[in-house]
Amino acid sequence: MISSPLMTVMVDAVRKAARGLRRDFGEVENLQVSRKGPGDFVSAADRKAEETLRDALMKARPGYSLVLEENGIIEGTDKSHTWHVDPLDGTSNFLHGVPHFAISVGLEREGQIVAGVIFDPIKDELFVAERGKGAYLNNRRLRVSGRQDMADALMGYGTPYLGRGSHPRLLRELGAVMAMAGGTRRMGSAALDLAYVACGRLDGYWERDLQTYDFAAGVILVREAGGYVTSADGAAEPLAARSVASGNEVLHRELLALLKKVQAA
Ligand code: IPD
Ligand code: CA
Ligand code: CA
Repeated sequence: MISSPLMTVMVDAVRKAARGLRRDFGEVENLQVSRKGPGDFVSAADRKAEETLRDALMKARPGYSLVLEENGIIEGTDKSHTWHVDPLDGTSNFLHGVPHFAISVGLEREGQIVAGVIFDPIKDELFVAERGKGAYLNNRRLRVSGRQDMADALMGYGTPYLGRGSHPRLLRELGAVMAMAGGTRRMGSAALDLAYVACGRLDGYWERDLQTYDFAAGVILVREAGGYVTSADGAAEPLAARSVASGNEVLHRELLALLKKVQAA
């Protein structure tokens, strides 16, 4: 584990918000059978978790700015630090009672992500990383997968929600990756997709049309686990591009080549 004051702040905030989320998920499972469904209840759970995170982070680091999914941007007095906070990543899963979602908090310092925490409260899996200090799942040091052959690889991806992003482009990209990869997965949480690349469960992952809070924490996790992350078009810093491609050195390079080939076609 990483025992820095910064990590303590981040982990405490995330664990606090997770308690409410875990309780609310139990209720969501009951609400599936109601005609109206759990939509409003989930929005409230999401907002509550975000308020808990916002309050804890603002209290511990008063000057830092925040980019929050529900409450937008809060400008702080310290212009060099920004939190990127997703209180519930994997909302569709949560809404449908699928136990695969996470809280994600990343810290940006002068344009670079320097720390990240992703917590899956159902599996009790805490992924943490800090620049120069490594990446961990609970107490285990993480490494990206060592697979070198795309034909053995399990590749994650994301689908743009209805009305957002380009489905035809994704279908072209997916077609190219499916033709080469051992398998593909759309798991439904960008934060966990990157955490899974960091711990070698997925060999690679790409997605477009993201927001910074979806993937900020995941970027540092993958890098500290020895992996590569760029935008889906190969830009070194994915944050501004709002897209990601990731994997170990070999598979990341191959993934980028496949995405580029489709783009050019
Ligand atoms: C979404 C998830 C999903 C990704 C979407 C995101 P949300 O975040 O990360 O995996 O495909 O692009 O918007 O809405 O569940 O916080
Ligand atoms: Ca969210
Ligand atoms: Ca999200």
